[in-house]
Amino acid sequence: VSPQVNLVEEIQRLKREKNAVILGHFYITPELQDISDFLGDSLALARKAQETDADVIVFLGVHFMAETAKILNPDKKVIIPDLKAGCSLAESAPKEAFAKFKAEHPDHKVISYINCTADIKTLSDVIVTSSNAKKIVDSFPEDAKLIFAPDKNLGNYLNSQTGRDMVLWDGACMVHEKYSLERILELMDENPDAEFIAHPECEKPVLMVAKYVGSTTALLNYVQQHEAKKFIVATESGILHQMQKACPDKVFIPAPSIDSTCGCNDCTYMKLNTVQKLYLALKHERPEINLDADTIEKAKAPILRMLELS
Ligand code: 13P
Ligand code: SF4
Repeated sequence: VSPQVNLVEEIQRLKREKNAVILGHFYITPELQDISDFLGDSLALARKAQETDADVIVFLGVHFMAETAKILNPDKKVIIPDLKAGCSLAESAPKEAFAKFKAEHPDHKVISYINCTADIKTLSDVIVTSSNAKKIVDSFPEDAKLIFAPDKNLGNYLNSQTGRDMVLWDGACMVHEKYSLERILELMDENPDAEFIAHPECEKPVLMVAKYVGSTTALLNYVQQHEAKKFIVATESGILHQMQKACPDKVFIPAPSIDSTCGCNDCTYMKLNTVQKLYLALKHERPEINLDADTIEKAKAPILRMLELS
């Protein structure tokens, strides 16, 4: 790209020319958050993807989110700036291994976290996000046999919140499983006026010391609605940009990782999205997300069930 091109202006121009909408997740860089037409958590993004009348959806997030948008809009063009923007959770559940696991648990309904591939969605009865997971698990009869995949940490948390004993697939988010309980406790000691809040993808010991546990949107709402002036936040640090914008007078400290060489945990997949790649993707309308009709049909049913139930 020539250095003369003003990328942000060009992105706006291309967007109008192509009737495109830019949907972004809270974990992308602050610069990309500010360029997005709509920013949200996984549930809000799925809803927005369902409602949009744009011809082209540009997804600033990761691959499974763009796939969800395509499943909900098979006739629209869905593009993503970097196809390598994957997700450790989604990758933890390959289709064949998961199909075998499902076959080993006959009579079980499959509840899958939206952070999974389209293939896993085709094997699921219902999809959930961290915003609606408890409500959807609660909607099953008490004696229902349930599998929860692919996040064992969210699954454990849901078991504790609902009194269920769901069978868990052994997957985890590489960002949220790396928070250091020891360093968080030290930080809490150093900042007695701070409230510690966490995303349910974190491990159990971390969640046990959190004052509040919720999805990215729920955490963002919490810091606005609660009096505390300081928060230690255990989720990907991109959300801090929105927290700081909403509460300029409050202090937000990213929770520390077990990896002492970095202050916080960034999702390297989310951070593969850049302004330059967004510009090129919009200009050339690729990389494009394409799924076969059978996958779309089978994956759509559990997503629509989620949207109805939440
Ligand atoms: P939510 O924004 O739905 O809480 O999801 C978090 C996440 O890990 C997305 O990858
Ligand atoms: Fe996947 Fe974790 Fe990155 Fe979210 S933060 S996209 S769950 S690896």
